[in-house]
Order: sequence, then structure tokens, then C-alpha cells
Amino acid sequence: TEFVTVSELANMMNVQPTQVIAACMSLGIFASINQRLDAETIQIVSDEFGFEAEFVSAEVQDAIPVVEDKEEDLIPRPPIITVMGHVDHGKTSLLDKIRNANVTEGEAGGITQHIGAYSVVKDGKKLTFLDTPGHEAFTAMRARGAQVTDVAIIIVAADDDVMPQTKEAISHAQAAGVPMVFAINKIDKPGANPDKIREQLSQMNILVEEWGGKYQSQEISAKQNLNIDLLLEKVLLEAEILNLRANPNKNAVGVVIESSLDKGKGYVTNMLVEAGTLKVGDVILVGRNYGKVRAMHDEKGNALKEAGPATPVSILGINGAPNAGDKFNVMDDEREAKSIASKREQLYREQGLRATKHITLDEIGRRL
Ligand code: GTP
Ligand code: MG
Repeated sequence: TEFVTVSELANMMNVQPTQVIAACMSLGIFASINQRLDAETIQIVSDEFGFEAEFVSAEVQDAIPVVEDKEEDLIPRPPIITVMGHVDHGKTSLLDKIRNANVTEGEAGGITQHIGAYSVVKDGKKLTFLDTPGHEAFTAMRARGAQVTDVAIIIVAADDDVMPQTKEAISHAQAAGVPMVFAINKIDKPGANPDKIREQLSQMNILVEEWGGKYQSQEISAKQNLNIDLLLEKVLLEAEILNLRANPNKNAVGVVIESSLDKGKGYVTNMLVEAGTLKVGDVILVGRNYGKVRAMHDEKGNALKEAGPATPVSILGINGAPNAGDKFNVMDDEREAKSIASKREQLYREQGLRATKHITLDEIGRRL
């Protein structure tokens, strides 16, 4: 994160900008007068001039008002459930069975490349599911998945072990304070040993109910559609305890699941509405992008006019491809959305510029 510019810092310390530039240069940073500096540089430079830098806010603040919901505006909302676990342990297969589709075979190489999101109705209740990739390269996506979720299903293949990404998923869920239900999968396989999985979990201080602990778990076979209903009942139980509610009557806020560029349609952004109601025609600010919702669809391709809390949607109209995990806000004023987006873009570029210079100088330093 960057803070004040060279000239602003000079002003605060009542010195010439050229003196700050010189101080930066002695650190190997070629800063221009209007360049923003990061916390570390500000600290070192101000120290050199006999000042101590104090950071009031650690983030660049945009003027997006956070509206506190009134008690009477909150109504029950569907739970957001994330399926997490090691690569190939059966996350996508489980979700396939839950929503009776077949995504596993359609995916490139059978590895989930992104977080997919689906709405499912079970016993008249709506549930929202997020799939996450198990490949080790997707740590950030698993962390984001854990952050938006209400309940995590941690899936472990009974013919394998509690693996690195199983442990990682567990620690993301724990860090986010999200309740976990364990799905011990592939019990149809000859080599399946669910007891070994329970044993390995206990070594991580996770005791499932069968072993006298507090964590619900369920042996399943995603492939043979075995015990999936029992698993869902346990997940629903966890969700009910949370008494999840949201205010549907406000500007929508939520998070990006994935985005892509389609040759015909332009930028397609898949998002999860977390609270409020998103409507066609709404102006959205999302990461360094913005735009007006031109069209909105559910995950089956049906056109939607509006989408309430815990609904995954695919929209058209954003002027670029935001990152998975970026928050979105509906703004009342398109000009304001545009101006905040371009401010964020500018900060991002300056940061990129600085980072490049750092690397180059480091390399020169090493060679000398
Ligand atoms: P990534 O998204 O790549 O992390 O994998 P994933 O966890 O989504 O696993 P996926 O559902 O793609 O399943 C991996 C393989 O295990 C596939 O070949 C599935 O058919 C198989 N599989 C999944 N569940 C079961 C099961 O219950 N029994 C058996 N025998 N095979 C299963
Ligand atoms: Mg998958």
C-alpha cells in the first residue's frame, strides 16, 4: 500500500521535495515528486529528517459509505457453503451430485480452474455452493473462498491421507472462524480407510463426533451418490445455528468469483451478491473497474432482473476483468464510480512501477 507523495511528505516535514528525492535515492529508489511512497520508505526517510511517521489508516480510503443494517431490515438468507480439500479428493464430483450436473468431465484436464458458484434448493431451502480448486497453486483462491463462506465442507479422500491442501483448507477455515463439516469421500474404493482419516485429523486436534469430538463428519461416495443427503443435513444444521440474515433492501455488495473476456459479449463477471439486491442497470464499482449492469444471468443461463443476498450471478457491463476476490459495491453515481476506479488504477500502476525499479536495482546491487 502506498501513502503520501514525495511532495506531500516534504511538506509535512517542511523540507524541499528535492531533499526527499535525494533521501529516496540513497535508498536506491528513484522517486519523482508526485510519486506515492510505501510505508517502509516513508518511515526511513522521515527518520532521516528526525521525524517519526505515524500511519493513521493502513488503507487508501475510498469514499464508500458503509451502511449499518437496522435489526428490522434483516431477513433470513441462504447459507454460502464452500467445498475445500486436496486436489482430486472429489470436490467437484460432490458438487456435481449435489446439483445433478456434470462439470467434472467438462473441465480442462479435470482440474477446477476457478471458484464456481451454484444455487441449489434442498427441502425447500436455498443453499449457495462454492467450488474451490485443490491444486497447490490456488492458495489465494482457497483463502478467499474461506472468507466469503458460512460453512466449509472439508473433503478428504478415504483412500488417501490428510494432505497439504487439506491442512491448508482447515487452517483457512479456522482463521476465518468458519464452522467445518468433514466429508470422508471415496468410501466405495477398496483401499478406503476412513478410520485412518479420523486418526490423522485427530493429530491436528480435530476430533470428529464419532471420536467424541465436536466436528460433524460424514462418510460419502461422491461417485456412487452415497450419503450425500446425510452430509447436506449436517451442513444445514451448522448453517441454522448461525441464524444467517441479510438486508435485501439496499445497494448490493459482494465479491467477484471469476471474470473473463468473451469475444461477443465483452467482459463477463461472475459474482456473489452478499447483501442488498443487485439490479440490471445498477452502477458497479469493483476493484479497479466499474460499469453498468447490462445483463444478468444465473448459473444456468436464465436472465435475471434482480438478485438478492447469497445469489451467484453472471453479469455483463464491467469495463475490465476484476480479480477473483475483489469486493464490489453498487454506487449511486456513475461518475464517482469511474473516478474511484481510476484512482485505484493509478495507485496500482505506481506500485507496479516502483516494484519494477526495486527489482532492477536489487539485481544491479547483487552484480556489483
Ligand atoms: P480439483 O478440482 O482438481 O482439486 O479436484 P476435485 O477435488 O474437484 O476432484 P474431482 O471431483 O475432479 O475428482 C477427482 C477424481 O476422483 C475423478 O476421477 C473422480 O471421478 C474421482 N472421484 C471423486 N469422488 C469419488 C468417489 O467417491 N469414489 C471414487 N471411486 N472416485 C471418486
Ligand atoms: Mg474440482
